Amino acid sequence: MLYVVGIGPGGEKYFTREAEEVLNKVDLIVCYTGYRRYIERFKKEIYTTGMRGEIERVRYALKEGERRDVALVSSGDATIYGMASLVYELAEKEGYKVPIRIVSGVTAASASSAILGAPLNHDFVVVSLSDLLTPLETILKRVRCALEGDFVLAIYNPVSKTRKKPFLKTLEVIKEYGEKRGVDYIVGIVKNAGREGEEYRITKIGDICNHLEEYMKFIDMNTTLIVGNTNTRIILNKMVTPRGYLNKYKV
Ligand SMILES: C[S@@+](CC[C@H](N)C(=O)[O-])C[C@H]1O[C@@H](n2cnc3c(N)ncnc32)[C@H](O)[C@@H]1O
Repeated sequence: MLYVVGIGPGGEKYFTREAEEVLNKVDLIVCYTGYRRYIERFKKEIYTTGMRGEIERVRYALKEGERRDVALVSSGDATIYGMASLVYELAEKEGYKVPIRIVSGVTAASASSAILGAPLNHDFVVVSLSDLLTPLETILKRVRCALEGDFVLAIYNPVSKTRKKPFLKTLEVIKEYGEKRGVDYIVGIVKNAGREGEEYRITKIGDICNHLEEYMKFIDMNTTLIVGNTNTRIILNKMVTPRGYLNKYKV
């Protein structure tokens, strides 16, 4: 059996009870090298591969899953920029005969939203800025469409050590939309949600563009950004997107 398990953004407190149960009962845990520290406490055989080792990792999990119980671990939710889709694709393409079960986890957007206040409390879009598997033009088109629809925007994979261009281009697009609408969009930035080193900032797109160097030092690959819509407000020092109850019920 192959379980594909989302473990949340990192810390133990974000593991669901179901994830704990599965990780306690499997024979082997397969994961990215960087997540080893989160699953060592289960005292199981562990197989890891590093960055760009996804295909090798998933193939090994599928092969081993044919003869014993295996958990392939993904951070956050395995179906949100995780390993779950690759598991199904490879299983079909290479003909592995293994039952697959996905165990959902807390995704970075959800953990970050709670840290910031309630910015995802209305319609939102999630975009990854990684242009490794998606062309930059497609990413920017999706960002524009989200802004056009006045969706709140959750941004994953903002930068890596070498990849900054998609983020800089995205900032330009957001600023341009804001200027067109007369809005300085509120932006929440969460780094290491639920992990050691958790930090957040609530700011505006104009401030990010005016102090770019400083923000580029803060934002890294463990950061999620949430860009508010035109109704998002700061309430009690937190970032909140109202659903409209007060207007509807004249409170
Ligand atoms: C490849 S995606 C994986 C997303 C993951 N499957 C999920 O559901 O959260 C990696 C991106 O998720 C976000 N992320 C993951 N863990 C995070 C954390 N603890 N704090 C903030 N952002 C995080 C970052 O934007 C990071 O670049």
